[in-house]
Amino acid sequence: MSDNHKLLDSYLTMINERLSEYIPDDGSELSQAMRYSLLCGGKRVRPVITLAFCRMCGKKESVALPFACAIEMVHTYSLIFDDLPSMDNDDYRRGQLANHKVFGDAMAMLAGLGLYAKAFEIVTDVGDISEIPTSTLLRASNSLARASGLDGIIPGQAFDIKNNGTKKLSYDDILNIHKLKTSAMLEISASLGCLAAGAEENVVLKAKEYAEKIGLAFQIRDDILDVIGSEEKMGKTIGKDREESKTTFVDVFGVEKSQSYVRKYSEEAIQILSYFDNNDFLVWFTGLLCDREN
Ligand code: IPE
Ligand code: IPE
Ligand code: MG
Ligand code: MG
Ligand code: MG
Repeated sequence: MSDNHKLLDSYLTMINERLSEYIPDDGSELSQAMRYSLLCGGKRVRPVITLAFCRMCGKKESVALPFACAIEMVHTYSLIFDDLPSMDNDDYRRGQLANHKVFGDAMAMLAGLGLYAKAFEIVTDVGDISEIPTSTLLRASNSLARASGLDGIIPGQAFDIKNNGTKKLSYDDILNIHKLKTSAMLEISASLGCLAAGAEENVVLKAKEYAEKIGLAFQIRDDILDVIGSEEKMGKTIGKDREESKTTFVDVFGVEKSQSYVRKYSEEAIQILSYFDNNDFLVWFTGLLCDREN
């Protein structure tokens, strides 16, 4: 196993163990519904990016671990909601039945909101995250509220539910949806890694530039995999975008040209990483995302 693989494995272990500690099974259906979606797999791309940026900015990864876990909780909430019958109406997620298929719509929404609220509890827990100055925690929670809220996921998803075939979208429209619903959470993942390490403003800006590119590459690859992916590898139903008459990158450009956009944005992201010391791991990880099959 390469050193990068080993480092990734150690990050996944750290993230999964801490997530499980944050949301213990207290015997209630609510805690079981939260753990069901949070701990059942998931690539952990966002928290891995947070830990990697913290390390590149010179601090040990454990400092950023609470931020990394909070981001994964927000992401998991967004997936639970994304799958609801009134949204994408998906039955499978992360290789198992979607949360609402097991616990019902009401409990799924409560589980999602529980994870969302827990994320902010973690990021503002001055006592628990004593290594990070309170002013940084305030800034981190404000940024997380924006990315998961009105500067990111929420309008992104609002545009996306209107993307139902009634109006053909342009390249710019699709790019805007991708930036809001996907890049915003990747930007917060990168920037909170830097903030945890006490990085300077210009460094945070570079990290965000990287993440916007990787967010676009990531969502275009997701749209491609919805057409050519394997349900077994992805752990979710494919062909959903077409079924819901969504205009995606693949409709506008076809699979091959769309993949050339994935490569272009990934290469631009990797270029930006040259600004950081000790970037080998993230360069390698970014390359993996470009051809990912799940
Ligand atoms: C799925 O995200 C939603 C998108 C933004 C494409 P991931 O592909 O990161 O899903 P998990 O976390 O691995 O399940
Ligand atoms: C979801 O995008 C992005 C979110 C903010 C959750 P998709 O709807 O394309 O994600 P999948 O394909 O269901 O994972
Ligand atoms: Mg969706
Ligand atoms: Mg979906
Ligand atoms: Mg998709």
